[in-house]
Amino acid sequence: MPHRLYIVATSGLAKETAQLADAICRVTPLWDEIAYISQDRKEIGRKLPFGVVVGTDELLIAAAESIDVAIGIGAPTARKRVAQALTQYSHLRFPNLIHPKALVDPDWVRLGIGNAVAAGCVMTCDIEIGDFNLFNLNVTVAHDARIGSYNVFNPSCNVSGNVQIDSEVLAGTGSQVLEKLQIASRCMLGAGAVLTRSCDVEGTVLTGVPARPRT
Ligand SMILES: CC(C)(COP(=O)(O)OP(=O)(O)OC[C@H]1O[C@@H](n2cnc3c(N)ncnc32)[C@H](O)[C@@H]1OP(=O)(O)O)[C@@H](O)C(=O)NCCC(=O)NCCS
Repeated sequence: MPHRLYIVATSGLAKETAQLADAICRVTPLWDEIAYISQDRKEIGRKLPFGVVVGTDELLIAAAESIDVAIGIGAPTARKRVAQALTQYSHLRFPNLIHPKALVDPDWVRLGIGNAVAAGCVMTCDIEIGDFNLFNLNVTVAHDARIGSYNVFNPSCNVSGNVQIDSEVLAGTGSQVLEKLQIASRCMLGAGAVLTRSCDVEGTVLTGVPARPRT
């Protein structure tokens, strides 16, 4: 049986997650094969970039040995739902996928499990990050940031020093979070927004420069 990494989902973000795993394997061959898991049995056998759809969640749950799983979902709430469902099974492992061209020094950045860090990301020092976050291409995270779980940072988002982000936050592409700010759970920061004030109301959608709650 090849040592596989299973990507949960078959969307564009799932394909990009497979590509991230493939880039890691070119430097450190952690897996022999990448395979996809679909919610839809009809997708079994479908060829996607970097791998084939091999089964549904049932395949993961029924596995007799420990297996590595990555969640290829880019919507924070769905990422959380799937992560919470699968972490109940102790034989499923959720490695952090860190692209070889990301700068993340493990001495200075504490990561939980199941995080994905794409090419071009830079994280500096004294940073704490929870579980199942997605840092898409070229995201930066500065000193002393505290980031919870299930957050999704779209490409080129910049998180400044001493920022605190709860969980399930979506930070749109090119968004900026200025230093020392706090963002409550499930907030959405629109593409290109510049956050200049903390937002402590969960689920607020903020857009513009400076970012303001959408009415
Ligand atoms: C802010 C956001 C979450 C709102 O999503 P939504 O509720 O579906 O918003 P809609 O598309 O219905 O737009 C509603 C209004 O907000 C405006 N709007 C949407 N996104 C905006 C943004 N980032 N900045 C400024 N205005 C924005 C729309 O123009 C529209 O204005 P109108 O009512 O005057 O026409 C979303 O637009 C966004 O920016 N998501 C991030 C996307 C991203 O990062 N994509 C990259 C993927 S890798």
